[in-house]
This record gives sequence, structure tokens and C-alpha cells, in this order.
Amino acid sequence: MKLQGKKILICISGGIAAYKINYLIRDFIKKGAEVQVLMTPSAEQFVSKLTLSTLSKNPVYSDFYSENGTWNNHVKLALWADVILMAPCTANTLSKMVHGMCDNLVLATYMSAKCPVFIAPAMDLDMYQHPSTKLNLELAEDFGHHLIPAEDGELASGLSGVGRMAEPETISQIIEDFFNSNRNLEGKTVLITAGPTYEAIDPVRFIGNHSSGKMGFSLAEEAANRGAKVIMISGPSSEKTNHQNIEVHRVTSAKEMFAKVFEYYENADIAIASAAVADYAPKEIAQEKIKKNDDSLTIELVKNPDILKTMGERKTKQFLVGFALETQNEEENAKGKLQKKNLDMIVLNSLRDEGAGFKGTTNKIKILTKSTITEFPLKSKEHVAKDILNFVEDQILK
Ligand code: PMT
Repeated sequence: MKLQGKKILICISGGIAAYKINYLIRDFIKKGAEVQVLMTPSAEQFVSKLTLSTLSKNPVYSDFYSENGTWNNHVKLALWADVILMAPCTANTLSKMVHGMCDNLVLATYMSAKCPVFIAPAMDLDMYQHPSTKLNLELAEDFGHHLIPAEDGELASGLSGVGRMAEPETISQIIEDFFNSNRNLEGKTVLITAGPTYEAIDPVRFIGNHSSGKMGFSLAEEAANRGAKVIMISGPSSEKTNHQNIEVHRVTSAKEMFAKVFEYYENADIAIASAAVADYAPKEIAQEKIKKNDDSLTIELVKNPDILKTMGERKTKQFLVGFALETQNEEENAKGKLQKKNLDMIVLNSLRDEGAGFKGTTNKIKILTKSTITEFPLKSKEHVAKDILNFVEDQILK
């Protein structure tokens, strides 16, 4: 059974989608999970405790004390769970969760938990789109919680749009995938570079590029989910992670990235260079802001150290993955970099492919080794990260 022995704590808050939790519990139990249900007081108006308790084979609690006077220990409940699922999660409960309010058993249990938390929001479309809800969902993701996005469809209000809770089968599959996720990188250290570098011209200006860091952070999250210890060295990027397996080091220039990389490279088992490192930097950094006195300005640039090439030269046990961002003669250039930088594989993305490369949430890649070229369709950067790490695993585990 796919969820055999897994302990799932479901916290229901007061929304019409609460009735769907009956189906979800039945599915979890069929898959072998142990299920404990908690409800907010208002959730009791939407679904019966008797039904939930019969299906989950456990008493259902909605208050700190049961009618017979026994204390429902929120800390014990939280520590019992392998995962907590907040479903349906109303705008009110979501807001309380991310702002530390703790005025019912569900919230006290949530705040005592150390396990992963999944959130399946459900609300009317305008509530779902309200800036405060968007902000609260972002905060929840920043806390490292897993969001199961609401779906598009008919809503209880009669309106139609995004806001209805994901279907029980979808939620069940996400939880199942979480437990059955691949842990092939357990015990490995993965070093990842990400983002752009900024090369200062004067105190207010720099030479940079459009890299957002998304590709690198997606790789870091995926490697960490597979059990790796990840050392993330990122240039200026607004991307964040709270994954406990990821250690983030922020740098600004190529020289700083170079120095940080070689603090950690020796112990890395896998190194992935997804950063868009500036090839050149101003020879001199002006101490004061450069004034616009003349019609033209010449800034002399000097070559930056090639971090990846140096990694190739210093390679001992590391499986080394480079990236190539090209605009022409893509495969030929990527092959050249594979060879010149002593790489085990290179990920090619071309700015000629729509949706590939910088900034956006998608990428389209080819992976080249010394003897193969494998092409992938346009995918989200999260999925591209999975493809890249699947490929790495195939190479190192074969
Ligand atoms: O950050 P995103 O917005 O998600 O965008 C992702 C990305 C487009 C930046 C990413 O997918 C990517 O292609 N990264 C590499 C960009 C790049 O600089 O490519 P390049 O072909 O110029 O460099 C080749 C390789 O050498 C890269 O692995 C690069 O990290 C490395 N390099 C380059 C120069 C240098 N001085 N030191 C290096 O280590």
C-alpha cells in the first residue's frame, strides 16, 4: 500500500469544501495511512464529526478539551504527524497561520508542528485573488510549506473561477508523491551556482545580466528534496528558499563567486554551474559616482576568472555539470565548452527558443555528454530541474 504506516493529520477549516475531506480520508485509509482529523469550530457547521471519525477510525477534535474533560494535547498531536494537511484552508485560517495567531486547537497544533505542512486553500474567487491572500500564500511558501493550489471551476457562490479546493484525488496524489519521492542523493553534497553577477563600475552602477536565479534555485530545491546537502552560491537574486538541506551563500561579483565556490568545491560530489557569470569586469571601480561630463565614456574591461573552467581543472571526484546559454551555433558552442572546461555534461539553453533561458518560469534544454545529445520539450523550471537531476543520477548511479 502506497501510504502504509504514514501518519497524516488533516486540519479542516470552515468552508464548503470540507465535505470533500470525507472522500480524501477514505482514500488515505485505503492506501494504508493512519489519519487524525482536527477541525476549527466553524468547520463543524460544514461536515459531521461522526462521519469524519468513522472514516478516519479516530476521534475528531475541535477544542482543547473534549466533552468528557480530557485535554487534547496539541503538542502531542503535532509531533505524532508525518505530515499536516490544512484542507480546506480558508482565508481566515491561512491568515492566522502566517501571522502567528493561535486561538484554536488547529492553529496551536500547526504552530507546534515540525513536520512538512501542505495547504489546500479554498475560497471564493475574489477572496483568492485578494492581495492579502496572495501575500499570505507567499508567506506560507516562504515558511517552506507546500501549496496545493486552488483549482478553476464552479464555486459555491455561483461564481466561476479559481478558488475551489483541489480535488481529493489530486491532494492524495501529491501527498503520495511526497512520501515516495526519490532519495537517491542522500549522503551526497551538491554545489550549485545561480543567478547573475554584478560587476561594479562605480558606487551606483554595475554590469549585470538578466538571470533571475530561478533555474539554480529550482535545481537546489530538487536536489535537496532528493536528500542531498546543497551548497548554493547565488549572485544577486530575489529567489529564496527555506529548505533545511540548502545552505545559501550570497555573493555579488564573479570574483566573490569564485572565492566562495572554492571554499566548498573540494567536498562536493556533484557541482552544477547554472550562474550567468559576467565574463568581463571593469578594470578599475571608480570611488565616486562617474559624472556625465563628456559625450562618450570608455570603460576598460578585464577578463573575470572562469569559475567552471577552474572547477574542471581541479576536478577530483566531482561530477561536473555546466550550462551553456547560446544565441547561435548552439550545439557546437556547447560541445566546445563541454570539452574545454572538462565537464561531464552540459545543459544547453538557447535564447532562440521561446520560453527558454532568462527570467521566465520555463526553460527548454538539451543535455550534451561527450557522446550523446538529449532534447527536452519546454517545461517549468521545476520540471527542468527534475530532468537534469534524473540525467545526473543516471550517469553517476549506473
Ligand atoms: O536564472 P534564470 O533567470 O532562471 O536563467 C537561467 C539561465 C539562463 C541563467 C541558465 O539556464 C543558464 O544558462 N546559465 C548559464 C549562463 C551562462 O553564463 O552561460 P555561458 O555559456 O556564458 O557560460 C558557460 C558556463 O560557464 C556556465 O555554466 C557558467 O556558469 C560558467 N561560467 C562562465 C563564465 C565565467 N567567468 N565563469 C563561469 O563559471
